[in-house]
Amino acid sequence: MQREYWDTRVSFILAAIGSAIGLGNIWRFPYIAYRYGGGAFIIPYFIAMITAGIPLLILEFGLGHKTGHAAPLAFESMRKNWRYLGWCAVFVGFGIVIYYAVIMSWAFNYFFYSFKLSWGENTKDFFFNRFLGLTQGPFEFGGFKMLIVIGLVFTWVWIYLSIIKGVKSVGKVVYVTVVLPWIILLVFIIRGITLPGALEGLRYYLTPNFAALKDPMVWLNAYSQIFFSFSIGFGVMIAYASSLPPKSDIVNNAFIIGLADTGTSFLGGIAVFSTLGYLAKMQGVPVENVIASGPGLAFVTYPTIINLLPFARPLFGCLFFLMLLTLGIDSAFSLVEAFSMAGMEKWKLPRPVLNFLISLAAFIPGLIFTTRSGLFWLDIADHFISNYGLVLVGLIEAIFVGYLLGPKVIREYVNELSEIKIGKWWDAMIRVVIPLVLIWSLGFSLYTEIKSPYEGYPKGALALGVAYLGVVLLCGILMGIKGRREE
Ligand code: PHE
Repeated sequence: MQREYWDTRVSFILAAIGSAIGLGNIWRFPYIAYRYGGGAFIIPYFIAMITAGIPLLILEFGLGHKTGHAAPLAFESMRKNWRYLGWCAVFVGFGIVIYYAVIMSWAFNYFFYSFKLSWGENTKDFFFNRFLGLTQGPFEFGGFKMLIVIGLVFTWVWIYLSIIKGVKSVGKVVYVTVVLPWIILLVFIIRGITLPGALEGLRYYLTPNFAALKDPMVWLNAYSQIFFSFSIGFGVMIAYASSLPPKSDIVNNAFIIGLADTGTSFLGGIAVFSTLGYLAKMQGVPVENVIASGPGLAFVTYPTIINLLPFARPLFGCLFFLMLLTLGIDSAFSLVEAFSMAGMEKWKLPRPVLNFLISLAAFIPGLIFTTRSGLFWLDIADHFISNYGLVLVGLIEAIFVGYLLGPKVIREYVNELSEIKIGKWWDAMIRVVIPLVLIWSLGFSLYTEIKSPYEGYPKGALALGVAYLGVVLLCGILMGIKGRREE
């Protein structure tokens, strides 16, 4: 197959940043950080960035570039029978994009609500009771919320149209989708930190809590948030790097992308936590009790900031949700793109057909999350697939390169291309630090999980969450097997 290259180095970086920076920074990071104790979370989070985020980004770029293939064939061409890992990565991504698109649908709706600031004064009540119409528990489905279904249809049409032409078109779309967000975020931060009570919120966000470092669940969530946010462990970065021109600086790119991504999350955190401080002051409660932390957090706090802006509130509201959408779209299509690049190496189907099938296949199960109990299911699905699926793929990747392939193979390859050279520290991360931390935190978190059900959900619902993960991994494995028969 003729390989398509990125037009310029800049368009690759923008596309990779576009994939990395997304709802994960603005929507997911704040609620995970809030749930796991704010300052308690920040230290593991930064450690995860340095020990796993950047090293694995280098690994995935190196692997993709060296082999010139999407994830399954990239692994397979290094060692026989390792395409399974690549397919599992791709399917984990698929499992995520199913609900990722639903969050985009929420943002779509909120974009329209912004015109009249329809969420009113009580943004929390509006989100949970009026917008979601949330039921009492996961098994009380309560029917579909039509507006969310419609938003989901729009989202998928948009994703499909964005990727129809493949990598080259990706390079152009992201010029817009990467730059706008930073500007808007800045405005919000300025408003956020000047609110009464903001400092209390920021203190909660930034004061380290060393006692929490003993909790494996905090660590697991820090690592999985890094994986989620850096788009590693999904085969996305492998696929993107496979289309880099032969001479491309890998290490530099990994650092730029990693730092830009973490910086954005951190800024999102400042906006959200200063608002939480404000809300805490208004309600006369401690910051940790303002709201039950979960996937709804962003949709309560950001509208609150918008309400409090001195002027042009609808305009900023629209801009903000437009920003969420533009941030989300390039992440969402990178997930589909990773799948379709892998698929094209296997089936030789025309790209538009394949993209259509993938989009449709992700749209249909996504409907579960558009019911009135959708928020619960989203929380459960995300918990299992990100913490266990994603982390497992990352762990196996590290073991594969660290022990089977030997880290030297990748290290020397990327060093030849890169201005900054990585040293033995990189080997140490891949071989020792990542496996140890991940095995420890996975093991103990599983144990905790069995002892006390996640967020108090009914056992049956959690079992379905595990099943979701199981199905995704199974699909990955089946896809690998089918590949073998065809050979
Ligand atoms: N990194 C994206 C985000 O933070 C999500 C994503 C994950 C995109 C995996 C592509 C692949 O929103």
